[in-house]
Amino acid sequence: MHGSANLNIMLKAARKAGRSLVKDFREVENLQVSAKGPGDFVSKADVAAERILREELLGARPNYGWLGEETGATEGADPTRRWIVDPLDGTTNFLHGLPHWAVSIALEHKGEIVAAVVFDPAKDEMFYAEKGQGAWLNDQRRLRVSGRRRMEEAVFATGVPFGAKRTLPAMVRDLSRLMPMTAGMRRWGAAALDLAYVAAGRLDGFWERELKPWDMAAGMLIVREAGGLVEAVRAGESVFDSGSILCANQHLFGPLAEVLRAP
Ligand code: IPD
Ligand code: CA
Ligand code: CA
Repeated sequence: MHGSANLNIMLKAARKAGRSLVKDFREVENLQVSAKGPGDFVSKADVAAERILREELLGARPNYGWLGEETGATEGADPTRRWIVDPLDGTTNFLHGLPHWAVSIALEHKGEIVAAVVFDPAKDEMFYAEKGQGAWLNDQRRLRVSGRRRMEEAVFATGVPFGAKRTLPAMVRDLSRLMPMTAGMRRWGAAALDLAYVAAGRLDGFWERELKPWDMAAGMLIVREAGGLVEAVRAGESVFDSGSILCANQHLFGPLAEVLRAP
């Protein structure tokens, strides 16, 4: 795919932040055995990655707005466009030396996501999409959601937020309904990558409650551009307003939604 100038800015920024995070991740692996653990170090790593992303993205487009997990929201001179950024999605994995975390960057225009990048530096996998241009992995692979049609064959992923007291009963109910009728559940710990994996056909669907816009913004466009369906968990709500997301291929969206939306 021949990406727009904005997409190229995003890809470059993701690679630069990814290099900084990979360096810190090596250090985190060493710190696992120390008594203090790598906690403080990790909170510096994601702040440093967001600083790099800000410099790259706002450096190239100084009039755009900003919404980042670490630095919050800033309105731009152009109120119709903003970057939505999670510099490190999958912090708990990163902290534990688990190589499954990502940099997530989306560009929103007039309330709609128009370009998206989810970069997994540990596996060197760059997932990206532009509205109307399809979804892609690295230089050449076009992404398509899976073609599975039967719940018995499906592998779905979900996430349980940290603490999760409020959402735990709903999660236990969902799992007790879905586990007997599917091929399995995964809880990988990085929502942006869960979404990218649905786009790549590795997972047949994903849902999570209590997410923030920066967890979902990039991944949801990548899923849609790969042919998947994306909605809020409750029918009729908006993904960002509800902070929830449900996505799957076009065959399994209905059956999965039916279970998750049942009283
Ligand atoms: C978290 C991850 C996780 C999800 C949490 C998110 P963070 O983001 O996406 O998979 O279950 O709800 O907060 O804190 O690692 O950026
Ligand atoms: Ca996140
Ligand atoms: Ca984060």
